Amino acid sequence: MNTLYKKILPAFAVVVLNVFAGAVKAQAQTVWLDELDLSNATQGYGVPKKNKTVDGKTITIAGKTFKRGFGTHAESSLMIELNGKASTFTTHVGIDDEIKGHEPAAEFVVSGDGKKLWSSGVMRLGDSARFCKVNVTRVKMLELIVTDGGNGNYYDHADWADAKFEISDAGGIATFNPIAKVPYILTPKAPASPRINGASVFGVRPGSPVQFQVAATGNRPMVYTAAGLPKGVNINKSTGLITGRLNAAGTYVVTLTAKNAKGSAQRKLRIVCGEHMALTPPMGWNSWNCFAGEVSAEKVKRAAAAMVKSGLINHGWTYINIDDFWQNNRDSKDQTLRGKFRDEAGNIMPNVRFGNMKGLADSIHQLGLKVGLYSSPGPWTCGGCAGSYGYEKQDAQIYAKWGFDYLKYDWCSYGNVIDGLPDNDPDKVSSLSYKGGNQLATAIKPFDLMGKYLLEQPRDIVFSLCQYGMSDVWKWGGSTGGSLWRTTNDITDTWTSVKNIILAQDKSAPWAKPGNWNDPDMLVIGTVGWGSPHPSKLKPDEQYLHFSLWSLFAAPLLIGCDMEKLDEFTLNLLTNDEVIAIDQDPLGKQATCVQTIGELKIYTKQLEDGSKAVGFCNFGMQPVKLSYNDFKQLGISGKQTVRDLWRQKNVAAVTAGKDQLPLNVPAHGVLLYKFSKAKA
Ligand code: GAL
Repeated sequence: MNTLYKKILPAFAVVVLNVFAGAVKAQAQTVWLDELDLSNATQGYGVPKKNKTVDGKTITIAGKTFKRGFGTHAESSLMIELNGKASTFTTHVGIDDEIKGHEPAAEFVVSGDGKKLWSSGVMRLGDSARFCKVNVTRVKMLELIVTDGGNGNYYDHADWADAKFEISDAGGIATFNPIAKVPYILTPKAPASPRINGASVFGVRPGSPVQFQVAATGNRPMVYTAAGLPKGVNINKSTGLITGRLNAAGTYVVTLTAKNAKGSAQRKLRIVCGEHMALTPPMGWNSWNCFAGEVSAEKVKRAAAAMVKSGLINHGWTYINIDDFWQNNRDSKDQTLRGKFRDEAGNIMPNVRFGNMKGLADSIHQLGLKVGLYSSPGPWTCGGCAGSYGYEKQDAQIYAKWGFDYLKYDWCSYGNVIDGLPDNDPDKVSSLSYKGGNQLATAIKPFDLMGKYLLEQPRDIVFSLCQYGMSDVWKWGGSTGGSLWRTTNDITDTWTSVKNIILAQDKSAPWAKPGNWNDPDMLVIGTVGWGSPHPSKLKPDEQYLHFSLWSLFAAPLLIGCDMEKLDEFTLNLLTNDEVIAIDQDPLGKQATCVQTIGELKIYTKQLEDGSKAVGFCNFGMQPVKLSYNDFKQLGISGKQTVRDLWRQKNVAAVTAGKDQLPLNVPAHGVLLYKFSKAKA
């Protein structure tokens, strides 16, 4: 009909008609997804990309390229406020070709006001783009979701290609992110009068050197005493450092006193001389999440100095752990990483950034801190540095000789050893699985070997297994001499990563106990970045949730940030003694999720004094407000005092079965409460 009109109408009428058509079009306007602010998206890796893939390349799905779109990575969520202004949303979706050689899987979901409107089904690499057209006329809030397709989010480079809306209202539509961005401080400042913090039980083996730093806040100078110390062990009155040696197994209960001009504090410390070290989860710092391959002795010393200067040492933070890259590297172009792997006698050689390892260990001990190291049971570490394969005994001996207190032992290239692959096999680094052999026996063997040699040393070296939870490590890690073991893959500073790690912890919980800890990986708060430093991408509430759950899990607490860039918010997270006390509780129980109400998950942890720590954790995008009264589910009965641990104040007195407890939990946030039997 249009053509007919054009034929019969004079030219000016055609112009009028076109103008009219334009006006109609202006009303039903197209808004491309890439015209909106994509930075509101959350995703499992990288940053949201406009008209490019997550790696910054041309969007390509099964050979077909697209000029426009949103390149993201599972798990991803982008929320768009439509408020009924849009009529349709159309897009092509798929896994980007840039990930060839891997096996990604992801599902694209379009959700309107919490209801699934469309799903791609699980998509894999090479699947042609799937087209989606949904009517969104009544939708107020649209969410574009990419899930991990059920196999973890590795390499899930996901494209929303040519994605666009038809909108009827020129007022427009916008993306948003409901998770609050502004940091807020909850931890009250420690008083000027003394307070003794940190672990209240300490394990050491007979004959090993004792080193225990009494952690106390309060004005300096402080005078420390310890009544009841066994023979052979002394306390330095002005530093609070307990040192010495115990020859006989036994338990010694010591009364610690810290005194300053404002007053004094007392607390019991149980020194247990026996088989186990790490009777409470290790607390400290590790270089990896911050410096990765850029670590050096200088940076490690500065981190140790900052641990003291920031006051963290007064809250029980102890270990300074060097991760990968203190050894020489197989293929780095950086000359400071090149050199002989071992000397003529087979002794491991530190790279020139490190040099004198004993000197480094001594200087850290002098600060009242302990020091840790990293290696692999394979010939190479994950970063391609020299590993311990074939030199296990010699390595254990030299670590002890240098004075190290902790070893993280990372699977890495060991899979190739089992499979009989040559050292220069392209898969050699980060081989997460292996093909041959009896899985369980082969999984245990390298840790058994190193564990045995570490236990032969004349000092305590905490053994930290790192093999990402393979073969249910929690069931046998302790039998290798391990004090802790990673339960999952590497953490990153994304909500997806932290959430998925949290949700994977319950199965290993029954195996946590004093001396044996499940390790959900290091903390991703503060300035992190694996060599490219940036503030943690976790929002403030997500960081509260992260630290609260690590404490509820009785997880090793290893700070992963640049210790010289501790901002006030990060310090507030790391110095709450009542929260840390949940982590360090001597009973050594790991919390599990006992109740789920919508997006709210409730975790409980039994504490030594009979009380319970409870985390009300909101995994949803909206605040949760409710009146809680289901105390039976939490194993709580009778009259209870409810204390908010972050705020360090009592917030309620409730009688289970009678009273309601009002809860208001921020989106992606937490309330961490302690329930104690109220005095009659
Ligand atoms: C990974 C390990 C990380 C870090 C890294 C070093 O396998 O999980 O925590 O140690 O290796 O290359």
